[in-house]
Amino acid sequence: MIKANPNFAKIQASYLFSDIARRVADFSKKNPDAKLIRMGIGDVTRALPSACVKAMAKATEEMGVDATFHGYGPDHGYGFLREAIAQNDFRSRGADISPDEIFISDGAKCDTGNFQELFAQDVRIAVPDPVYPVYVDTNVMAGRTGGNINGRYEGLIYLDSTAENGFVPDVPDTHADLIYLCFPNNPTGAVASADRLKKWVEYARENKALILFDAAYEAFIRDKDIPHSIYEIPGAREVAVEFRSFSKTAGFTGTRCGYTVVPADCRVFAENGSEIMLQPMWARRMSTKFNGVSYPVQRAAEAVYSEEGKEQTKMLVDGYLANAAVIRDKLRAKGFSPTGGDNSPYVWFDTGMDSWEFFDRLLNEAQVVVTPGSGFGRCGNGYARISAFNSMENVLEAMERIDRII
Ligand code: MLT
Repeated sequence: MIKANPNFAKIQASYLFSDIARRVADFSKKNPDAKLIRMGIGDVTRALPSACVKAMAKATEEMGVDATFHGYGPDHGYGFLREAIAQNDFRSRGADISPDEIFISDGAKCDTGNFQELFAQDVRIAVPDPVYPVYVDTNVMAGRTGGNINGRYEGLIYLDSTAENGFVPDVPDTHADLIYLCFPNNPTGAVASADRLKKWVEYARENKALILFDAAYEAFIRDKDIPHSIYEIPGAREVAVEFRSFSKTAGFTGTRCGYTVVPADCRVFAENGSEIMLQPMWARRMSTKFNGVSYPVQRAAEAVYSEEGKEQTKMLVDGYLANAAVIRDKLRAKGFSPTGGDNSPYVWFDTGMDSWEFFDRLLNEAQVVVTPGSGFGRCGNGYARISAFNSMENVLEAMERIDRII
C-alpha cells in the first residue's frame, strides 16, 4: 500500500493564492463581462526591461549555433552572473559577499521553501505572523509541526507583527533555532531598520541559531537608512542566509531567476555540538536536485546590472512605487491607517471587517481583487493587502471603485 505523507493532512487543502485564483475564476465564469482589476497576488504586469530582452535574444541566438551553444551550465550558476551580483548587490553596499557564496536558482519561492531540508526535524522554528505562507507550509509538509489549532501550527513560535510593534517583530524571549524574516515585508510592507536587524543578528549568535532572510523586495527600498541586505549588519555572515529574486526587481515572475547567498562561514551544528559549514550542504542539495537556470535567462539577469539595465529596472520599480503611493494616500483619505507603500509594493491595512468578507465585497461590488490578510496568519485577521503591481491607470480606477463602496 502506498501511504500518503500524513503531514499533508495538516495543511489547508490549497495554497492561499490558488484559493484566491479559484474564487476569482468562479466569479469571472458567472460574470463574463466584468472588468476585473487584479491587485491580489504580487505578480508584475509591466514588460521586461529592454536591456534584459536584448541580452536574452542574443543568448538565444547563441544557443542556435554549435560553436556558441550551451548545454548544462555550471552547477551553481554562470560566473558572469554571480560576479555581477556580488559586486552590485553586496560589495557596492559594503557587504562582504563573494561570487562563490551565491547560488543561482529559479526564484526565491523555491529556495525559501527548499532550504528547510538542511535542518534536523526537531529544530525550533520562529515565523512572523502574518507570514509568506511558503515558510510555514514547507515545514508542515516536512513534518516539523503538529496540527493546526485555530489557525496556528503546534510547535512553531509565532512572532506577532502588529500595529503596536510597527509590524516588525522583536526577538522572542524564548529559544529558537531557525528564524524566518522578510524585509521589506510580504505582506505588511514594513521595513526593518539596521538597529532592529542588529538585534536579530545578536539573538541568532547568542542562540546558535540561523536567520533565513528573504530580501525579495529590497529593490523597493528608497529610504537611505534602511539596509538592503542582512549582510550590512556586522556578524551576520555566520548566522544568516539571504534570498533574492529578479521577479519583482526586473519583472522576472514569468522568466524565473533568483539566488540564495550562503556565506562560507555560515554554520549549523551536529548532534554533538560540533560545527558544520552550511554552504557545502546547500551546494550538495542544489547539485543533486536542480539543474540550473537556462543560459538565456542568466544572461537576461546579468543585464539587470548593466548601466542601461540599472536605469530601466529603477524606472520599473519607481512606477510600482508611484502606484503604491496612490493606494496608500487614497486609503489614508478614507480614514484608514495603512502601512507599506513606501519602500514596498504592498499596502496593508485594517479593513474593519473580516478579511474574506472584505475580499468578497471588493470582488463582487467593485470587481477588484486584493489579498485577504487572514490568509497570511492569525495576526492578519481583519486586514487586507493591496498589491501595487499594475498600471497606474488600473490602480486609479481600482481605488475609485473601492472609494465608492467603502
Ligand atoms: C505574493 O503575492 O505574495 C507573491 O507574489 C508570492 C510570490 O512571490 O510567490
